Amino acid sequence: MGNEDHELAARLAVVRERVEQVLAELAEVRDRQALAAAREAGLGEDSPLVELSRSLGSLDPARRPEVGKAVAEARRRLETAIRAARERLERAERAERLVAERSDPSVGLLGSLLEGPGARHLVARARMELEDVFWRLGFEVASGPEVEDEWYNFEALNVPAHHPARAAQDSFYLELAAPTPLLLRTHTSPAQLRLMQRGQLPIYAVVPGRVYRRDTPDARHTPAFHQLEALVVDAGITFAHLKGTIEAFTSAYFGPSIQARLRPAYFPFTEPSAEFEVTCTICRGTGCRTCSGTGWIELGGAGMVHEHVLRAGGLDPEAVSGFAFGFGIDRLVQMRYAIPDMRILPENDLRVLLQTRSAS
Ligand code: DAH
Repeated sequence: MGNEDHELAARLAVVRERVEQVLAELAEVRDRQALAAAREAGLGEDSPLVELSRSLGSLDPARRPEVGKAVAEARRRLETAIRAARERLERAERAERLVAERSDPSVGLLGSLLEGPGARHLVARARMELEDVFWRLGFEVASGPEVEDEWYNFEALNVPAHHPARAAQDSFYLELAAPTPLLLRTHTSPAQLRLMQRGQLPIYAVVPGRVYRRDTPDARHTPAFHQLEALVVDAGITFAHLKGTIEAFTSAYFGPSIQARLRPAYFPFTEPSAEFEVTCTICRGTGCRTCSGTGWIELGGAGMVHEHVLRAGGLDPEAVSGFAFGFGIDRLVQMRYAIPDMRILPENDLRVLLQTRSAS
């Protein structure tokens, strides 16, 4: 092998080495600058490959075709790799641009607040806790429709037309023209009828749900709120069972330091009827503004299921008896968390909602 041959072999080795190095760089490039640098190193004017191809004409003609082929092959490999790297970069840039330009109206002013997990609404949390309390007491958790007719919402509950209780619960009517007009339920008590109509005894059930009244919103009223109805029907159920159940659930929900008491009251669907009160959760019974100095706060209504209601539900008042009670979940939340104005509950102000983020 002559000197020329040695020299050529050495140049070919340099070209090969440079080409492999540039191919490795091209596989890794992350930006256009790196791509341009790799291209320059592989195919630039000063690159070993271009220098070799420039000197092809001065080579020994016998070696020319072989070297020319090697040069062309190296150039082809580099150009293919450069094209692939450029396409890869362009794809990445396009994806980045799409993310940057994406318009999300919830990001911006509220964006920083919305980072992280959401939170359960206070009312939803109370409802779940109550369901849990009653479930542990042996009650089934059931549901009833929010659109009822007058029979379920009033008549079957012993509230005939023109009864003053209908006026006290100003209703949202949906279809006045229907044979039995449809309305949004004003309380969860119609669920009592639906439970009885299933025809299965005994009944130990609670029905939480949304109810609607045409109340003007104020610190203690919102037109849509939540109640929980409890119904027990079995042989030999007495007022003592009612009292025991109310005491069990209030101390399970509020803690043992909160007492419950019953006071005579009137409801058309129960006889006898009672209102139940619990120790004021704000002052713990010593008397404050919230409880008007009495130390007690009214929570809901209760009583022994009226025989008219049992009959309307298809049951025989001679064979079974029952008790029922109902109360507002929002009111309970208001008491438990000392919320001054009930209207903040449906408003969904993020500052209110996210307070419970870590707790839910
Ligand atoms: N439905 C009544 C209301 O909304 C509350 C109530 C009172 C429910 C007495 C009952 C009950 O089950 O026995 O004001």
